[in-house]
Amino acid sequence: MQQKHDNRLPGWITFTASLIMIFGIIYGIYQSVFLNVSTPLKYKQEANLYLISAKQDMIIPQRTVQAIEAGQKLYSQVCSACHGVDLKGGVGPNLIDNEWRNPPAKESHLFKLIWNGIPNGKPPMPAKGGRTDLNSEQIWQIVYYISSLNLNIEKDSKPNQ
Ligand code: HEC
Repeated sequence: MQQKHDNRLPGWITFTASLIMIFGIIYGIYQSVFLNVSTPLKYKQEANLYLISAKQDMIIPQRTVQAIEAGQKLYSQVCSACHGVDLKGGVGPNLIDNEWRNPPAKESHLFKLIWNGIPNGKPPMPAKGGRTDLNSEQIWQIVYYISSLNLNIEKDSKPNQ
């Protein structure tokens, strides 16, 4: 009599494998829904910031009264034409409310927006507001000035000067 060959895996292996798969799927859903895993985005943004710093030898000044005052002067020369003398907007959006076309509202991100401009904006914003001679220290001074007036902006700068 020919013996019948059973190709199936032992029950406990199938069971354990299914359990692991189900756990994986449930954990994946849990992670994306409940753990707010935008972490890759966060890392990407930070990585970009450091990329700029590596390329440009970026100066991040201390947050001093002098830095904020210098920022105020630069803002009124370069940015106020589009964003208003009182930062309440014009051609460009309001910068002292808490509505952002290009979130998140934190200093490192603002720096990048201003440094690079917003080429795909509607309308676009020119890099450094069109004043291409501005250096990283001056852009940070402007960022400090804006975040001194808008307390919704997260102060995440890490001065290196
Ligand atoms: C020629 C006009 C113009 C100038 C000059 C200008 N901006 Fe803008 N800016 C814009 C426009 C238009 C936008 C909106 C782009 C978009 O649709 O996302 C913008 C967006 C921004 C944003 C993002 C706002 C948001 O809601 O996401 C910041 C921050 C900003 N500008 C800061 C500055 C600073 C600081 C300066 C000066 C160095 C400056 N801008 C100079 C036109 C200008």
